[in-house]
Amino acid sequence: MKNKPHLVKIEKDKNYAWCECAESKNQPFCDGSHTKVKEKYDNIVEALIDINLISSSDELKKLITQNDKNPVLFKAEKDIEVNLCGCKQSENAPYCSGAHLKL
Ligand code: FES
Repeated sequence: MKNKPHLVKIEKDKNYAWCECAESKNQPFCDGSHTKVKEKYDNIVEALIDINLISSSDELKKLITQNDKNPVLFKAEKDIEVNLCGCKQSENAPYCSGAHLKL
């Protein structure tokens, strides 16, 4: 993850998947790493339940599992250079909204 946008060329009618989990090695695009992130969260939840720190209906469990991040799918409407968010804080994902300037 970097705290500034990625300037990339996107091609008309091509589909893209912008990485939201920040673990992709192909930033700003998805490489499937979010599945490992989800497994990690699931394992943490199971471990906490196993040692009775939380129950399966606990609010903490809901908070942890809500952290699942999936890629944002989008299609380019024209050949263009765009700034895709690198900080993962944009209010207009996958595009940079300037939120990185507040970090
Ligand atoms: S890089 Fe600009 S809002 Fe994320």
